[in-house]
Amino acid sequence: MKIGVYPGSFDPFTIGHLDVLKNAAGLFDVVYVAVLNNSAKSPVFSVEEREEMIDRVIESEGLKNVRSGSFSGLLVDYTKQIGAQYIIRGLRAITDFEYEFQINAVNRHLNPDIRTVYFMANPEHSFLSSSSVREIGEMGGSIEGLVPLCNYHYLRERLARQK
Ligand code: PNS
Repeated sequence: MKIGVYPGSFDPFTIGHLDVLKNAAGLFDVVYVAVLNNSAKSPVFSVEEREEMIDRVIESEGLKNVRSGSFSGLLVDYTKQIGAQYIIRGLRAITDFEYEFQINAVNRHLNPDIRTVYFMANPEHSFLSSSSVREIGEMGGSIEGLVPLCNYHYLRERLARQK
């Protein structure tokens, strides 16, 4: 069985993440969306909030082979824990490449058996990031179409309260 883990901060999960997740769900038998639990990154959304948003996406998109989870510590340790052989990441632009190149090298060093699979972002979403969603939402701009519809109202209110 091919098991992939899609790790990230997902602070919050965007429509770009959803695009990657749908592609991965079509390729792997099981996909775990794994929220990084690292307070040093000072996330706006708690791990629980992020997992809840991901659960709503899984439910509303009917992604039957996708599960949500969270991890702290090394990603390679989490992959071992859930039995995943693949890491899934999205690439938006060349600027992502250097960062991904480094993460891949570190993970391959730590566990040579793990392979990372990349999905190119839909060009329509290549500008999109969680930080831009946060900034737009906190400043009262429209985040419609930037986040999955099932989380739109929640995020709009939550980010407006954040500023
Ligand atoms: O969405 P992000 O913030 O770009 O995701 C980064 C993530 C979670 C994939 C990366 O920071 C990570 O795997 N962190 C866990 C710690 C770890 O395994 N570090 C070694 C590889 S950099």
